[in-house]
Amino acid sequence: MVVKMFGVNSKGDQYRRGLFLLVYGVLAWLVFRLVKVIIDRLIRSPLRTTPGPLPAKLTSQWLQFIDFAGNRTSTIHKLHQQYGPIVQIGPNEISFASIDAIRDIYSGQNPFMKSAAYDNFGRKGAFQMRDKEDHRQRRKRINHVFSQSVLLEMEPLIRDEVENLLKVVDERCGEPYDVLHWFRMLALDVVGQLFLGKSFGALKDDRPPPYVHHLDNAYLVWAIQGILPSVYRFTSFLPFRSIQDFLTAGDYVYDYGAAAFYDYLQSYGRTSTRRSLLTKLIAGDVDSKSAPLSDEEICVEISNLVFAASDTTGNTLTYLFFELARNPSWQEQLRKELRDTEPVDGSVPQYQQIKSLPVLNSVIWEALRVHPAAPASLPRVVPPRGGRVAGMDLPQDTVVSAQAYTVQRLLPTFPEPDTYNPLRWMTTDGGTDEMKELMLAFGKGTRNCLGQTMALMEMKLTTAALIKRFSVRLASPRTVDDMEMTDHFTLIPRGKKCLLVFERVEEKGV
Ligand code: HEM
Repeated sequence: MVVKMFGVNSKGDQYRRGLFLLVYGVLAWLVFRLVKVIIDRLIRSPLRTTPGPLPAKLTSQWLQFIDFAGNRTSTIHKLHQQYGPIVQIGPNEISFASIDAIRDIYSGQNPFMKSAAYDNFGRKGAFQMRDKEDHRQRRKRINHVFSQSVLLEMEPLIRDEVENLLKVVDERCGEPYDVLHWFRMLALDVVGQLFLGKSFGALKDDRPPPYVHHLDNAYLVWAIQGILPSVYRFTSFLPFRSIQDFLTAGDYVYDYGAAAFYDYLQSYGRTSTRRSLLTKLIAGDVDSKSAPLSDEEICVEISNLVFAASDTTGNTLTYLFFELARNPSWQEQLRKELRDTEPVDGSVPQYQQIKSLPVLNSVIWEALRVHPAAPASLPRVVPPRGGRVAGMDLPQDTVVSAQAYTVQRLLPTFPEPDTYNPLRWMTTDGGTDEMKELMLAFGKGTRNCLGQTMALMEMKLTTAALIKRFSVRLASPRTVDDMEMTDHFTLIPRGKKCLLVFERVEEKGV
């Protein structure tokens, strides 16, 4: 039949015939694959009856492109509003939005393992470890560094950096000022002091240190590695210096951590009385009866901690001050509450004076609720024996998650969920059990945030010190547009800036 179609048997004809057969074969194979994928994913899949959009059921690339554009969290949030508490967001991935799901996925007794997505977050430390036993051992060896009593010893270091921030704000009083940049620099200097043994000096310079440029690029490279691995592989062969510099940004971050560690050893040795969390990490925890981390392990952990601590804390402070700027009555209530907390030395109150103040607590927790710095899914994998989440039986290897942005807006626990209203924490004496269970801003269970106490301490000291001295307002209505959410796992304001104006309270006569 094909011979007839092409007529004569010349060499050219044979070539055309071969080509035709090849194209025909490839097309048939593609159609076969497509039909198989459709049958497997829409008809045979155990998840086939789960509500969710058709493209998500067919291919994981759909969500990956949305993720790459920075719209993953807002898209999944809208899907929950449309489909309810259980939504299929990929061929083998389900997003949940309920208390039951949070308990089932993240509770201490039955934690599912972190998913493969965490392999794309740099080098393996406590944050990235997926194996439960490896992770348990690692936490045992580093938990002591994050205890409340150890952090209280570090308070003077944090207060010094807050003093530096106060100088920056003082110099820029009355003019529009990008708080996203300066709060990030504060968080960077604090974590540098505590874990690298020296501040980055970022608050003392108008330009960010080169580290920040490399860290921003490292986030991008890790996102490309995770979402578009073939693009990453292709670009890594390109012989252009600028591209190679970009692709190796992560190495810069880890080399920086390692260099800081060896400098520290040279200056202070392995046993010193120097006030720093690095000293404690090097010494290890005698009470836990486990060995201190090796030098290599310390280099990875401290490098990871710099980026785990800086953007999360910087962003939360930014959104908090953005909300205070829009809600002057909360600034006044805070100032009233802080009236009796005169700093003993310098301009920053003591942590003991402010740690349990209800208005201060409430404005911070409400910022973490409405604008969680890690708003996105925290993905986990169903183990080989299968699993059950919120009453739904799931096969092995299904990826399950909840996202803070959505569960922290669930009705009826959080009425008017998009409104910033710290009162909800005050009238419930710091939050009902349900409110606390739904708060996923610091994660949950055995994988919860190690730096929560440190972050709260830093945010309370900074907020108290700033609000005592300054009032704050939006620079213009455009700030509201700039602060619209995008995310690449962590929250990033769309405008990448937050312009606010600070004024001294005594000058304004407040
Ligand atoms: C407002 C500030 C912060 C927020 C909102 C935040 C949020 C989170 C969240 C949601 C997780 C869980 C991630 C997951 O399950 O995938 C996490 C884990 C973690 N955070 Fe934070 N974080 C903050 C500050 C810090 C600070 C200051 C540090 C350290 C100095 C830190 C270190 C870590 C570490 C090491 C983990 C991994 C814990 C583990 O898996 O064992 N974080 N954080």
